[in-house]
Amino acid sequence: MVIDDILKELSMQKKDGVYFGPAGGYWSNLNREDNERFLKELPLLGSKKTVEKYFPEHFDVIFSPKRAGGLPLLNSGSGELIVDVGCMWGALTIPLARTGCNVVAIDQTLESILLLKQRLMEDNLPNVDVVCADLKKIGFKGSSVDKFVINGVLEWIPESGVIELKKYYGKRQGAEKKYDKSDPYDLQLKFLKGIYNGLKPDGSLYLAIENRYDIFNFFGMPDPHCSLRFITFLPRFLQNMVSKVFLGRPYINWTYSAGGLKKLLKEAGFCDAKISYAFPDYRSPEQILSKAGMGYYRPCKFRRAKNIFIKVVCYVIEDILFRRLKLTAFAPSFVVLAKR
Ligand SMILES: C[S@@+](CC[C@H](N)C(=O)[O-])C[C@H]1O[C@@H](n2cnc3c(N)ncnc32)[C@H](O)[C@@H]1O
Repeated sequence: MVIDDILKELSMQKKDGVYFGPAGGYWSNLNREDNERFLKELPLLGSKKTVEKYFPEHFDVIFSPKRAGGLPLLNSGSGELIVDVGCMWGALTIPLARTGCNVVAIDQTLESILLLKQRLMEDNLPNVDVVCADLKKIGFKGSSVDKFVINGVLEWIPESGVIELKKYYGKRQGAEKKYDKSDPYDLQLKFLKGIYNGLKPDGSLYLAIENRYDIFNFFGMPDPHCSLRFITFLPRFLQNMVSKVFLGRPYINWTYSAGGLKKLLKEAGFCDAKISYAFPDYRSPEQILSKAGMGYYRPCKFRRAKNIFIKVVCYVIEDILFRRLKLTAFAPSFVVLAKR
């Protein structure tokens, strides 16, 4: 069985089709009460109707194929073993499983995993094992995984408490006071080293994350992790100062420049990290381009702006910056493919 191959070091309990490893924190777009409410109706309504009823604002994230737009870069296929770390509701797990590979989907939040479980059953995808565990406590030592997928997870690794994302946005007092006190870089590095150890000698990593120097951060777009503005591009010591003033804790959701990300991956052992640039961002990429391909860039519908004037300004900025000047240093997100 797939799960035995990759997690043989751990004696995991299996209950109702979910493997349980060492417990971690809690991370969800929904508050705990909302999660509990929808889970009661899930078996009865099925996944789509439940999401439509309880959290329609996330319907697209869960069911639209857009979120998995970068996966063709992985070129995955039948028989491969792919681990989706921080799988949440399975927006990438399901498209991966449809390619015929064996997938292990891991997340710390049981509520998210239960929705994924329901979807797997409805879509008749038996080639996925789901694991509820803390990624920081799992040792991938077997060198048996073909590919790892880390989509929007690395920046959350330094957290350790309860994150109900709804409370983050707009309301800064929602920031979790409990966090891992270790250096965020060290925590991310240790996590990536664990991933590296789990890969087969010819295995590869797919990693997607925001760019610390996304051009719109300089125009006041809030950091999607802590909701503060004008913080991502500051030197680390200033990030800490600002975050302590507004959130009462240091800045821990570290994102990187392309160079910073390459350095981190190299230190974790990876070689040959190829960076592509995702527009309008990695969450629902419309275009993923290499540096050489930037001439093909077409300004995207602006991510969050509703105001037509702002839309036009953004359009012009993006056209000049990316298509004409090819300044990838200011692209919104990175999609990285790295080899062991
Ligand atoms: C932004 S979501 C990304 C979800 C998914 N990869 C996607 O792109 O749709 C981050 C996910 O990582 C998970 N996560 C973060 N830190 C974790 C940890 N230490 N152990 C297990 N899961 C973790 C969270 O529970 C959450 O579901």
